[in-house]
Amino acid sequence: MLFQGKNVLVTGAASGIGRATAIKFAAEGANVTIGDVNEAGLNATAAMMASKPRIVHFDALDFDSCRDLVAVAAQDGLDVLCNISGILKWGPTEDFAVQDFERIMAVNTTSVFVLCQAALPHLVKSKGNIVNTASTASLQGIAYTIAYSASKHAVAAITKGLAIEFAARGVRVNAICPGMVNTAMGNAAPPVGDVDWSLVMRNAPKLENGTCEPEDIAELFAYLASDKARKVTGSLFTIDGGQLAG
Ligand SMILES: NC(=O)c1ccc[n+]([C@@H]2O[C@H](COP(=O)([O-])OP(=O)(O)OC[C@H]3O[C@@H](n4cnc5c(N)ncnc54)[C@H](O)[C@@H]3O)[C@@H](O)[C@H]2O)c1
Repeated sequence: MLFQGKNVLVTGAASGIGRATAIKFAAEGANVTIGDVNEAGLNATAAMMASKPRIVHFDALDFDSCRDLVAVAAQDGLDVLCNISGILKWGPTEDFAVQDFERIMAVNTTSVFVLCQAALPHLVKSKGNIVNTASTASLQGIAYTIAYSASKHAVAAITKGLAIEFAARGVRVNAICPGMVNTAMGNAAPPVGDVDWSLVMRNAPKLENGTCEPEDIAELFAYLASDKARKVTGSLFTIDGGQLAG
């Protein structure tokens, strides 16, 4: 098993990609801590895992709760941090509330910085690593979701900058850029109002059935977090059924 005895923290584990990733790490022998704002979802995830996780309620908008989450996860050391919590809101820019922009930045970007900052002293000790969740929205502009795209471009910047800053101390930092994934977020309804949805869909998956399943993304988390990827750091790994191919 790839992660026997390793201590792994997975945020956003109450549903979708985070849930599949928590299940994957537990199946590979890890001691997993799962964190999310959705307690019922965390309990449901725990019931699907091969071993009992530590379950921690945290709110990414509350940076002290981010630090507390890391402290619980790192009680016996920490080998891997998977930052997966995130939110998305669609809407034409003219009507998009600045408060929503700031909330998206706080959950998707600032909390990722705070979680990394709290985890890094532990990861330096363990020579561990971080896998962040960026997006194809980190690599291209997306109409009608400027805040989300900005927040995910920033996750790419955090990933690459930390990879440089911590490489000499033996910590790897990578990010996954999923395209369309079959989750609550991925299946969110298009925005209402004066929108041209073809501007968003011009980069649809090219593969037949190109929409990813959460389990496809979980496989990549496991690879990047494992020693198989020991030479990989500062990378943005796209998994998108060919969305960004053109
Ligand atoms: N689904 C897609 O198409 C897609 C594509 C690219 C990237 N992503 C990214 O993948 C990650 C997981 O998304 P998903 O598709 O599994 O969606 P999801 O909605 O199923 O999962 C998101 C999780 O984040 C949690 N969360 C939201 N706000 C939180 C907060 N304030 N504090 C703590 N947890 C909070 C939710 O409770 C939920 O469990 C996100 O970072 C998302 O941006 C998703």
